[in-house]
Amino acid sequence: MSGADLAAALLAEHFEVREGELRIGGVAVSELAQRFGTPLFAYDAAVMRRSYRRLREALQGFAAIHYSVKANPAVPVIALFLEEGAGVEIASIGEYRRARAAGARPEKILFAGPGKRKAELEEAIAGGVGEIHVESFEEITRLEAIGAALGKTLAVALRVNPVAAVQGGAMRMGGKPSAFGFDEESLDDVLAALAACPHLDLVGLHLFAGTQVLDAGVLLAQWGHGLALAREVSQRIGRQLSTVDLGGGLGIPYFQGDAALDLTAIAAGVPALARTVPTGTRVVVEPGRYLAGPAGVYVMAVNAIKRSRGQTFIVTDGGMHHHLAASGNLGQVIKRDYPILAPTRIGDPAAPPVSVVGPLCTPLDTLGRSVALPAVEVDALIAVLQSGAYGPTASPGGFLSHPAPAELLVEGGVPTVLGD
Ligand SMILES: Cc1ncc(COP(=O)(O)O)c(C=O)c1O
Repeated sequence: MSGADLAAALLAEHFEVREGELRIGGVAVSELAQRFGTPLFAYDAAVMRRSYRRLREALQGFAAIHYSVKANPAVPVIALFLEEGAGVEIASIGEYRRARAAGARPEKILFAGPGKRKAELEEAIAGGVGEIHVESFEEITRLEAIGAALGKTLAVALRVNPVAAVQGGAMRMGGKPSAFGFDEESLDDVLAALAACPHLDLVGLHLFAGTQVLDAGVLLAQWGHGLALAREVSQRIGRQLSTVDLGGGLGIPYFQGDAALDLTAIAAGVPALARTVPTGTRVVVEPGRYLAGPAGVYVMAVNAIKRSRGQTFIVTDGGMHHHLAASGNLGQVIKRDYPILAPTRIGDPAAPPVSVVGPLCTPLDTLGRSVALPAVEVDALIAVLQSGAYGPTASPGGFLSHPAPAELLVEGGVPTVLGD
């Protein structure tokens, strides 16, 4: 599938196109650009709801969903997933405050993260939190001291960095040195440390094996391994765990050749896993990207069109300072193009491929290297799809001091401006 084919498939799956123009949440993209200016991020609430509902259906009878707030921490976005019935997974006190502002009840909040500070733990515990995922011996000591000072027993889950088990030949999980959680090999020491803490109650296990997994078989194998590990921990501590959190990591197609995660295969695989879960144990998955990513569109306007030594550069008013991931600089090994299109010219024939770049004074600020667009003029709109997760809050917004983009959640024809 070419980049243009992927863009067309994503449009067909998620969005309405009327007379060659993309509509987001029932509003034409040109109207959003006119009213709110460019560059902007627009999130289609209906697409978020659909992604959530599809996943919920696939996981029915197996796992509950906690939205991973880091993917898109806007309070109305968190509120949308809570309204759909999700819990949340947070990894900082800022995310905790956002989740509470969105209406999350304490018991719906899982608090992960490899370096939680004492003040963060104290605030979350004082405000109420479901489970805290312990990730270091220091954290165990810190939490025990907080529990002792309060005269309270705190519910904790153990985050484990799994061994590189190979199941079905395609297991891409853990096994590497990592700052996240405790190595599976060190379980004896960790369980002993926890057992020595009268104010900590080990109620859960948490695994997060990796992000952007598109292969249903790999995910199912990872989940199976997590459940087996939970049984082992439960046996060692002589009681049942109330929660097993299998992590996020459900991928979405970004690049030419990516195939969407096969939810039918997931749905077909989960009953066998569900049969291994003891009654009374709640299984959780905590995806971010899968729920928020497809709903977001980054909309920019063309500022200049340059030709340099045979190559055409479309210089836009948006770039890596708002959307680092699309520029290929957010941890990608190989830089490839996100799906990019001219959202008011859908269906127009493509001109020869162009590069789409931003306004920053660095070649890193390239959003598309070989993009099939119609021949566009200055002020035309350019859009990057799959932009609802790890967008502005995962980008170096201060770099070159350009203004922040507008962010909108659009539902039923009504845009809501997102802000702090
Ligand atoms: C602990 C934890 N949970 C959930 C997520 C969400 O991952 P994704 O957006 O790939 O589902 C992350 C991402 O880094 C994470 O670290």
